[in-house]
Amino acid sequence: MTPRTNQRIDGKRLWDSLMDMARFGATPKGGVKRLTLTDIDRQGRDFFRTNCEAAGLAVRIDGMGNMFARRPGRDPARLPVLFGSHLDSQPTGGKFDGALGVIAGLEVMRSLNDLGITTEAPVELINWTDEEGSRFGHSLMGSGVWAGVYTQEKMQALADPDGVTVGEALVEIGYAGPEVAAPFPADAYFELHIEQGPILEAEGKQIGIVTGGQAQVWYGAVVTGRDSHAGTTPPARRRDALVAAARIIDLVDRMMRARGEDGRGTVGRLTVLPNSCNVIPGEVRFSVEFRHPDEAEIGRLAAQFPREAGFIARDCEVTLELTELFRIPAQPFDPECVELVRQATRKLGLSAREIVSGAGHDAVYVARHVPTAMIFTPCKDGLSHNEAESILPEEAEAGCQVLFEAVLARANRAL
Ligand code: GLV
Ligand code: MN
Ligand code: MN
Repeated sequence: MTPRTNQRIDGKRLWDSLMDMARFGATPKGGVKRLTLTDIDRQGRDFFRTNCEAAGLAVRIDGMGNMFARRPGRDPARLPVLFGSHLDSQPTGGKFDGALGVIAGLEVMRSLNDLGITTEAPVELINWTDEEGSRFGHSLMGSGVWAGVYTQEKMQALADPDGVTVGEALVEIGYAGPEVAAPFPADAYFELHIEQGPILEAEGKQIGIVTGGQAQVWYGAVVTGRDSHAGTTPPARRRDALVAAARIIDLVDRMMRARGEDGRGTVGRLTVLPNSCNVIPGEVRFSVEFRHPDEAEIGRLAAQFPREAGFIARDCEVTLELTELFRIPAQPFDPECVELVRQATRKLGLSAREIVSGAGHDAVYVARHVPTAMIFTPCKDGLSHNEAESILPEEAEAGCQVLFEAVLARANRAL
């Protein structure tokens, strides 16, 4: 790590805390399964909260379970500088997706304490609820409600595959806060995250200066055919929902590939009913998502996909119910906040490049209300949403030091 500052975060403490957090939901393959609002998530949240309080931070929880840990500034009239990420994970997630930003935020707070720094503005560390969307099928949930994109009521009514709603799960783990999640005035938001893709590693860059997030659209699809006997139903009588779904999945892949290197199209979840070897499937439910840096391209995909999927359903003599769950426009980040990240990398002598985020992040919704920027660090083989996700301690330290510098510069800026 670069010695170009005498205000250093503690890289070893950061790494140790990341490994401590990774114990909650640790999987045999070295990853993490910390699904949102489960008891494992509760344990991770409790650990985070205890450590925030031990660092002298005042923790509050909103109605979506978003956690806010505040450190006062010298001037209480100034708006807070926010930073954070998420502690929930995918079912086969890694140790760093989300956790890096939250635990690095904790290290920023601890370092401010150790260095005896009182910032001009208050600073506030956030753990957003359910960034991943893997349990209730809706990503960026806590930040989305906070930003006013979705109502708390609507999100709390979403149920997981066992029928447990978000609202019930929040109460069950003791993280249903009293105040409705809503944006409050803030001066800036910074989020440190692993890149989750291959670009920084391939170019040997230590830091990604994130200029914005790409557009996306998500659907829920239900194909309904007819259950019938596998051995007796001849081809003309089959209404096979899975065959139709398979052709629609192939359509998603073809539409993605038609858009070249920038195209993204995924079916990641699929339920087959009745899921019996000798019954022609009568119903298939699945997710569809497309992403692209160019918002106009998402508009074209959203016009084309329902129409072409409908043709496939008609040819297969099944019905298709397609619900657009959400559409997120491309979100540019705030030039002044991005500049603070750029300046921090220069000051520290770190190699860096500008980058558009391929993954979705809470920062994309926060940016609708608060000037926002993100910082990326490389990850091994560009791999994420995988238990093998891995970063080096010095990469985490460099990212955290950039976060520290950007937060400090913003919180102490002349108004
Ligand atoms: C979040 O991890 C996403 O990009 O879907
Ligand atoms: Mn993430
Ligand atoms: Mn993720």
